[in-house]
Amino acid sequence: SLPTVVAIDGPAGSGKSSVSRAIARRLGFAYLDTGAAYRALAWLALDRHTDSSQADAVTALLKDFDYAIGTDPDEYFVTVGQTDVTDAIRSPEVSAAVSAVARVPEVRRALTDLFRSIAENVDRPGVVVEGRDITTIVAPEAEVRILLTASEEARMARRSAEITTQSAQTVAEQLRSRDRADSQVVDFMSAADGVITVDSTHLDFEQTIEAVIDVYHTRM
Ligand code: C5P
Repeated sequence: SLPTVVAIDGPAGSGKSSVSRAIARRLGFAYLDTGAAYRALAWLALDRHTDSSQADAVTALLKDFDYAIGTDPDEYFVTVGQTDVTDAIRSPEVSAAVSAVARVPEVRRALTDLFRSIAENVDRPGVVVEGRDITTIVAPEAEVRILLTASEEARMARRSAEITTQSAQTVAEQLRSRDRADSQVVDFMSAADGVITVDSTHLDFEQTIEAVIDVYHTRM
């Protein structure tokens, strides 16, 4: 039978990635970070000196996109061909280029197919899939569907605590402009029908995990 799917969407800085990974660990599930694939394709575009605003050029990269991701929550890695890009895909350059790559319809179609096939083939009883359009497009049939939100202020504060190489103001501006660009492509700010919102604004990490696990238990 197919693995149980826990779909988690939300904006940058909502704590989505760390919370999703922790939940996968607790449930004994696999973990799939879909943003990593968009980031890896943006990394490839930069590596090939491809202009990310040229949809055709970005689409052409898909045929050489030899992508792999670790779905064990304790052994996370991302590779493109022979290159380990686990850290490189978090660079400010990749973050600045990724929205342009993610808006190309051919890219979204190809990566959505890829996510579905990875999620169906994990070697665990379930998989936590995290991104922007998981509850709506990638896995609308998921057993558990959650929108993880937090106030803009809380999200900015969390992200700037993580990124110490740039000023809080720079981090906030970049986050805001990425959210704005991404919102034009997918709606990850409001919950679709049947999706449960977990607002982490006033919750710490552990409380957020508990709130998500509670939702899981009401559904399963
Ligand atoms: O989650 P993360 O911030 O790493 O995602 C990086 C980018 O990938 C987002 O800013 C968005 O452009 C794109 N993305 C997407 N759909 C997803 C996940 C990420 O468009 N399901």
